[in-house]
Amino acid sequence: MRVHVADHPLVTHKLTVLRDRTTPSPTFRALAEELVTLLAYEATRTVRTTTVQVETPVESTEGLALATPLPLVVPILRAGLGMLEGMVKLVPTAEVGFLGMVRNEETLEPTVYAERLPADLAERQCFVLDPMLATGGSLLAAIEYLFDRGARDVTAICLIAAPEGLAAVERATEGRDVTIVLGALDERLDEKGYIVPGLGDAGDRLYGTV
Ligand code: PRP
Ligand code: URA
Repeated sequence: MRVHVADHPLVTHKLTVLRDRTTPSPTFRALAEELVTLLAYEATRTVRTTTVQVETPVESTEGLALATPLPLVVPILRAGLGMLEGMVKLVPTAEVGFLGMVRNEETLEPTVYAERLPADLAERQCFVLDPMLATGGSLLAAIEYLFDRGARDVTAICLIAAPEGLAAVERATEGRDVTIVLGALDERLDEKGYIVPGLGDAGDRLYGTV
């Protein structure tokens, strides 16, 4: 598994405002979107392309187009939805699939409650969006879901991860083509499975409590 932690003052600055408990939802949503665009730049470094010729007003030259099938972006509902606009701003022709997952706050086990994905993902580069990688259970379940559908190449973009969850995903995906791009790697998980210092419940901060 490849892990890339963003090392850029703008990412840290925007995360600092997201972490602030007094940041209201509208600002939180706008910043989450901006952060994802910055992280997506790194996450798409190995996006598949094909060589094309382009006629400039001056002469013909070689350039790149995204290869088909186009990348598939998969936000994990609910909180991952707050990352979608930031991702498609950078890759507007990407296709979008959805996975709905919720973590049981007692057992910390994730369950899938919704799914809308193309049938065969064999040739797809998949980009999973989920802001928080805590125990890693949700992300791992999402990655396994995609691999079961034939995916072979999965990149996850997360705003914040806990070392425990990152290690769990790494152990369970050994030998697979998995990349994780992070805004920050935090200190630890608390006894309730929250990331410390983290930013609290990402879904609640984006959308309010359901
Ligand atoms: C949050 C978050 C991740 C998950 C991380 O979602 O968005 O999906 O928890 O925790 P884990 O690494 O321990 O699995 P939640 O289940 O709260 O659902 P929500 O997006 O609907 O708020
Ligand atoms: N889910 C969140 O939204 N935040 C955490 O810290 C852990 C799981």
